[in-house]
Amino acid sequence: MTPNKPLIVGNWKMNGSLSFIKETVSFWNNQQIVNPTVVCPPFVYLEACKNLISSPLLGLGAQDCHPQASGAFTGNISAQQLADIGCQYAIVGHSERRQYHAESNALVREKAQRAIDCNLTPIICIGENLADRESGLTLEFLAQQVTESLPEKSTRIIIAYEPIWSIGTGKTAAPENIAEVHQFLRQNLGLDCRLLYGGSVTAANYKEILGIPNVDGVLVGGASLKKEDFAKMMMNAD
Ligand code: PGA
Repeated sequence: MTPNKPLIVGNWKMNGSLSFIKETVSFWNNQQIVNPTVVCPPFVYLEACKNLISSPLLGLGAQDCHPQASGAFTGNISAQQLADIGCQYAIVGHSERRQYHAESNALVREKAQRAIDCNLTPIICIGENLADRESGLTLEFLAQQVTESLPEKSTRIIIAYEPIWSIGTGKTAAPENIAEVHQFLRQNLGLDCRLLYGGSVTAANYKEILGIPNVDGVLVGGASLKKEDFAKMMMNAD
């Protein structure tokens, strides 16, 4: 697939407040957005965010969802509930969930499947750690992660390649590394869906990253909390 516009996804992680959201989303609503954009606030702010969004190019995503439809899972949120309040996307398998909540590929696959069943588009995150990168095992690791994390009905998915060592570190992967991985995902693994890159994407480097073959968008953490910087990515501005 070669979408004509890149997708810009902002993952706010456990940051923000009601006043921050009001100020930030109101600012974005008034920009000349050209790239479809998805904002993923913490669960408690999803509905507030949805009510503030007025641009048709601004979508809403959650940072996770539960694999089960409903039940006795204290503190969790189901994919159906996310869809119910107007969410369109759910990030699943982010490396911070894999690391701090011991999420396995099998669990990520169940979450992605549930998201699809509830008409959400899962943004499935994959990425190698520094040890695998330095041992030359990146492609092997990613092949296994893709095989085990992708749901059967994988027509409606987005994959985000986020090397763990580049998340929140300011160490963006080199363009040739990103190109190699994205070509591998597209050609060797036959992934026909949108492929995002994530890891220290900024207003200063996003255009170069989007110019790499087979990169169909970016997943942005820290820079999505800077309203002017993230607006540049939505507007395709320098
Ligand atoms: P970062 O985070 O842009 O702050 O590196 C990316 C992510 O975790 O999705």
